[in-house]
Amino acid sequence: MSSSSIDHTLLLLLLCFLLQKPTQASKKSYIVYLGPQSYGTGLTALDIESVTNSHYNLLGSYVGSTDKAKEAIFYSYSKYFNGFAAVLDEDEAAMVAKHPNVASIFLNKPRKLHTTHSWDFLGLERNGVIPKGSLWSKSKGEDIIIGNLDTGVWPESKSFSDEGVGPVPTRWRGICDVDIDNTDKFKCNRKLIGARYFYKGYLADAGKSTNVTFHSARDFDGHGSHTLSTAGGNFVANASVFGNGLGTASGGSPNARVAAYKVCWPPLAVGGGCYEADILAGFEAAILDGVDVISASVGGDPVEFYESSIAIGSFHAVANGIVVVSSAGNTGPKPKTASNLEPWSITVAASTTDREFTSYVTLGNKKILKGASLSESHLPPHKFYPLISAVDAKADRASSDDALLCKKGTLDSKKAKGKIVVCLRGDNDRTDKGVQAARAGAVGMILANNIESGNDVLSDPHVLPASHLGYDDGSYIFSYLNNTKSPKASISKVETKLGQSPSPIMASFSSRGPNIIDPSILKPDITGPGVDIVAAYSEAASPSQQKSDKRRSPFITLSGTSMSTPHVSGIVGIIKSLHPDWSPAAIKSAIMTTARIKDNTGKPILDSTRINANPFAYGAGQVQPNHAVDPGLVYDLNITDYTNYLCNRGYKGSRLTIFYGKRYICPKSFNLLDFNYPSISIPNLKIRDFLNVTRTLTNVGSPSTYKVHIQAPHEVLVSVEPKVGGMEVKLGVAASVVSLGGGSSGGLRCIVAMKLLMQFDINMFI
Ligand SMILES: *[C@@H]1O[C@H](CO)[C@@H](O)[C@H](O)[C@H]1NC(C)=O
Ligand SMILES: *[C@@H]1O[C@H](CO)[C@@H](O)[C@H](O)[C@H]1NC(C)=O
Ligand SMILES: *[C@@H]1O[C@H](CO)[C@@H](O)[C@H](O)[C@H]1NC(C)=O
Ligand SMILES: *[C@@H]1O[C@H](CO)[C@@H](O)[C@H](O)[C@H]1NC(C)=O
Ligand SMILES: *[C@@H]1O[C@H](CO)[C@@H](O)[C@H](O)[C@H]1NC(C)=O
Repeated sequence: MSSSSIDHTLLLLLLCFLLQKPTQASKKSYIVYLGPQSYGTGLTALDIESVTNSHYNLLGSYVGSTDKAKEAIFYSYSKYFNGFAAVLDEDEAAMVAKHPNVASIFLNKPRKLHTTHSWDFLGLERNGVIPKGSLWSKSKGEDIIIGNLDTGVWPESKSFSDEGVGPVPTRWRGICDVDIDNTDKFKCNRKLIGARYFYKGYLADAGKSTNVTFHSARDFDGHGSHTLSTAGGNFVANASVFGNGLGTASGGSPNARVAAYKVCWPPLAVGGGCYEADILAGFEAAILDGVDVISASVGGDPVEFYESSIAIGSFHAVANGIVVVSSAGNTGPKPKTASNLEPWSITVAASTTDREFTSYVTLGNKKILKGASLSESHLPPHKFYPLISAVDAKADRASSDDALLCKKGTLDSKKAKGKIVVCLRGDNDRTDKGVQAARAGAVGMILANNIESGNDVLSDPHVLPASHLGYDDGSYIFSYLNNTKSPKASISKVETKLGQSPSPIMASFSSRGPNIIDPSILKPDITGPGVDIVAAYSEAASPSQQKSDKRRSPFITLSGTSMSTPHVSGIVGIIKSLHPDWSPAAIKSAIMTTARIKDNTGKPILDSTRINANPFAYGAGQVQPNHAVDPGLVYDLNITDYTNYLCNRGYKGSRLTIFYGKRYICPKSFNLLDFNYPSISIPNLKIRDFLNVTRTLTNVGSPSTYKVHIQAPHEVLVSVEPKVGGMEVKLGVAASVVSLGGGSSGGLRCIVAMKLLMQFDINMFI
């Protein structure tokens, strides 16, 4: 008796010891930012070595020796940025943070990765023919270089074939990086002109026990091939997903050159991701390689700009004339979910196109419900099968909640076999629910939306015949199941339907504003096609992303702001090829001011709940490439303006140097209301506040005479300078004529005076 109680005590002591020890020696990986190099691309190898040595010396003074510092440092950013990434314990990190040269130190966290027809929908082509007035009749992005920060690329995809493509632009400084033996047999060509891979940040955090190999930028996931081909993939005739959505696939800049920067590593769902240290390395390489556009379908919980690799990297890209396009995220429809909130990049939301992959569900009571699917297999037409709720097919040990979601191992094959199982959306992957239903012997699956997802349905490449229904139809099915003795259903074969209206509709998953870092900057900026987008895929991955799925397809549909982002990147490529002298802000303004807020029925764009969507969902609206190339006037901004914006956020000293590159004296006065952003967002207006907001317009068209029409809400008074004929505009619509020379800068001032008569959040577009 007594001896066993002693054993107990000992065991407890030992456990306490074991549990505490790791916290004491807790090592984490950090990025230590020292502010960027001022000499940029002119660096010699000797310069780089001396910068790297300065990193070893700096850290060496904290960890005991330069040798220990060399061991701790896994990236020395010395070619463009000045800083390093290192594995440190918390005490060391806290001390390093106090060094006068250290501008910022932040954890190496993982960030997440957030067709054939979408270009037709955007008016660039019509049934495979490029119509007059299409942007593609003016340029297809010739000699533009688009870089993509993602999961890499499948280089053998036809989207990256270099057939008929001219020599690599001589200004290109990038490489095709592979390991010594080129284990992955990875080859670049005149279309895919560069590829690099960055994994040390991933390895530092995910630990050496992971089962990932690092030989090249080869894409084993599919996401990176999909996004890169959407931005700059070649025309590929006869592309489809199991015969659905047949057509010519291409990117927005079909003749552009592309480069892959692999910064995201598996498993993306658990533990893996796109690490800050690798993202920063990717930006550094892309800037030095000479890309024109950076597409980054990556993001995470928003953090203040000096602690974000994407914010820092994109600022420097923009300072080098590179346009950065990034995704708003897939955590909607809740407000304040948008990420990538920096004013210098273009942040993209996601909406539908007018194409649907339809699969009808017919119930035993003859009710027909329209769902979406890209199942390869189908049930015999009009044949009915017994219908069962996944809860009623629950395995003994599973909880009802888990079973309803068709989670792994929760379904009993004795109950599900030969039936159509109804699974609820949420938690686990949509296609995984199908895998679980199929495993339990179901012949089909109905995927019913939870209330949060509204009536948004997605066409997924399910492994069994399936149909995805909206919340209203899903609720109908559940009550049909409750009130019917022998419920039954049939699921029809998938059909591709074009010309659906209304479209676009905002996707429920698309992350929404207001901007939680700075509500004065409206985010997202723009929306584009991001639902059921067909594009190139990795032949190492299954369409459903499920391991048990052995199918392979060179093209696949994916949905997300990750898909809408490269649409905008491709459009940026064309605008840049036609207007190489436009600043990144001018291109962004052109895209935003020409966007539309009406759908294809002429009514306001709807949200996924079928009420009118607002600017927190779509920013300036749906991108219209054919108009964006000729906006007439733009709201321009340069790096000084962005730096002044940061001054206004309280940035100074080394924290400001991270961005500006050298010491910067903040201006005495700066009025955020006059920051020349292409949208106006004023949070927390108080009743009877008076505010003056000023914007300055630059004519980027030929010398023109502009007729000014003003439409404004009642509480807002808009005036325009120079005034012609004593124009003073008040309430509603008025007009004036202003002549501007071509390229005249700051020619037209638009002054918006607001007197608030009632409490509301104003978000207005000019
Ligand atoms: C590593 O990957 C291989 C091939 O995919 C797999 O067979 C093996 O089980 C994996 N090992 C671990 C530890 O996950
Ligand atoms: C298009 O693809 C289908 C199915 O993959 C094939 O049967 C057909 O021959 C192809 N047509 C052309 C012109 O390549
Ligand atoms: C169906 O019945 C279950 C349990 O009896 C209940 O929880 C559920 O709310 C019902 N659903 C509908 C739509 O009536
Ligand atoms: C940026 O634009 C402002 C006008 O808005 C101008 O005064 C300034 O000189 C510009 N800075 C640079 C670096 O071009
Ligand atoms: C706004 O501008 C008007 C006209 O220029 C001026 O009279 C008024 O004082 C300004 N209001 C504020 C709050 O700056």
